[in-house]
Amino acid sequence: MKNRRKKPDWRPDCVGAVLLAPDVIAKRTAALGAKITRDYARRPLAGRDLVAVGVLRGASLFFADLLREIRLPLLVDFISASSYGKETKTTGEVKIVKDLQEPVRGRHVLLVEDVVDTGLTLTFLRKTLLARGARTVRICALLDKPRKRRVKIRADYVGFTLPDRFVIGYGLDYEERYRNLPYVATPR
Ligand code: IMP
Ligand code: MG
Repeated sequence: MKNRRKKPDWRPDCVGAVLLAPDVIAKRTAALGAKITRDYARRPLAGRDLVAVGVLRGASLFFADLLREIRLPLLVDFISASSYGKETKTTGEVKIVKDLQEPVRGRHVLLVEDVVDTGLTLTFLRKTLLARGARTVRICALLDKPRKRRVKIRADYVGFTLPDRFVIGYGLDYEERYRNLPYVATPR
């Protein structure tokens, strides 16, 4: 259509620099989806149910976009975990606040997270799902902040590696706000 300008992105006062624009995220998400499709279509991952698990709430936007790029039959489920105890605790206790509805025994699980930061949440979730009999548990994270790691864990699929900086948008919050920004940005 002629003279149809792209709507400018919503840019509230809270936003500092936009680090990952919507088209950058979309392109990377498509590449991740293609890689995941290839990997799960062949051995040793093929031939079993795949359950894609979105980790609430941060991964919600990324999860919805990634799922559309995975061209395989799969089941969709959600889990939500929260860490309790003091930030400084090295044990990093994590609890499940909303559990899966699907059984994972004998199935492949793809955990989809917004960011691997200290790594405590994903370490706990992976351990828990393997203990329930999941055949494999792989991790796909939109963002990786390796500088903040407190436990050794690597995501199998990573969208972008960022320095240790707090970011908002595209699912990521600051005090439960700004998750609906269509890009990843630093707060002002
Ligand atoms: P961790 O890897 O156990 O430290 O937990 C990662 C969780 O911390 C993520 O799922 C986010 O909810 C939150 N988080 C870490 N870094 C950021 C950030 O930069 N912005 C918003 N939330 C973050
Ligand atoms: Mg989160």
